[in-house]
Amino acid sequence: MACELSIVVPAYNERLNLGRMVDVVARALPGTDWEVIFVDDDSPDGSYDELVELSKRNSKVRFVRRVGRRGLASACLEGMGISAAEFIAVMDADLQHDEMLLPSMLATLRNEPCDLVIGSRYHSHGGIDGWSSDRACLSRMGTQLSSWITKVPVSDPLSGFFMLRREVYESAVRQMSGTGFKILLDFLLSAPAPLRVRELPYVFRQRLHGESKLDVMVGLEYLTLLLEKTAGRFLPVSFVFYLLVGLSGLAFHLALLALMHVALSQQFWISQAVATAGAMCTNFVINNLATFRHRRLKGANLLPGIMLYAVICGFGAVANVEVADYLFEKSVPWWLAGVVGAGIGAVWNYAVSKQVVWGWAVQVLQRRKHREAPSMGAPVSSRGAL
Ligand code: GDD
Ligand code: MN
Repeated sequence: MACELSIVVPAYNERLNLGRMVDVVARALPGTDWEVIFVDDDSPDGSYDELVELSKRNSKVRFVRRVGRRGLASACLEGMGISAAEFIAVMDADLQHDEMLLPSMLATLRNEPCDLVIGSRYHSHGGIDGWSSDRACLSRMGTQLSSWITKVPVSDPLSGFFMLRREVYESAVRQMSGTGFKILLDFLLSAPAPLRVRELPYVFRQRLHGESKLDVMVGLEYLTLLLEKTAGRFLPVSFVFYLLVGLSGLAFHLALLALMHVALSQQFWISQAVATAGAMCTNFVINNLATFRHRRLKGANLLPGIMLYAVICGFGAVANVEVADYLFEKSVPWWLAGVVGAGIGAVWNYAVSKQVVWGWAVQVLQRRKHREAPSMGAPVSSRGAL
């Protein structure tokens, strides 16, 4: 029988906190039918062994072990995916979120017309214990940015502590970005209808063991989430990155052309060919590092990747010139014909290289993982028996 409340807990390198986490939740929720679902990304500190032990001792402890993947938000979504409870909470494993808020969160969802309850650091008596002024300032800035861009009227949209009805999860899950840390904001922006939200204040505590996983990359992922959920409806974020890379490639092309033709007095066609090849290589490298960083090609696969990319861009160039020429013949002004041709070339290059070059990269990655870990199959979920 499903329990009433699942508490999903993303955990990476939190072995020393896991047992205590179960104890404090148990103490906070007497008389409630709850379970905790840890989602551990194969932490190197041996969290898995600890989770096996805890779930042997206590049937309220379940877990998902993900191998070869990382990410707080995606971990939470996978934990929610194995819950059948009416209410689902998300809470950190490091005891910084106040478990004593859980009963009032649950009571609010049970008794009020409300879809989502947020534990808020910035609501009336909420607060933060012992943060450096830099970290506090960064958090304030992130919160402010979110309220400017998304207009979501909550005081702490970046909170990692909240509880919702399972229907909210079900209606939003396919629209969610699942990128980075900000799972709550992802829910607020992905739900098909505006959510009825309540905020309850709490004081964010200090960590006892381990360290925070928040870093520059998490900050960048946060900006990507905001972009995806605003402009992304009209334009895929990876296409915007691709265009930016293309524009910087154009600047590089012109610089190389000037160097070859003007400074070194080479023939124009040789200079143009060198500049084209140079720009294509740098475009490939930057797209590989930034736009498609999660499927990055490495080592011996780089050269075939660049060659494939060059062939695709070659077709893109032909399409570009053919279309531009056709329009020019039809008396479209030269500059408009040029822009349309270049635009079509860019869309072609993006769509086809994404599918072919970085589609192949995904297959390479999967094959490599398979070779490195032949005995590791799908993520393991467990309630002791499974
Ligand atoms: N499975 C998994 N995979 N868990 C992760 C990962 C990951 O890649 N990265 C972090 N976690 C887990 C941590 O183990 C911890 O339980 C929780 O996610 C939060 O990570 P911290 O590194 O402790 O983040 P923080 O304390 O700086 O910030 C947290 O609290 C803020 C206030 O609620 C986060 O939840 C923020 O999103 C939140 O704003
Ligand atoms: Mn933390």
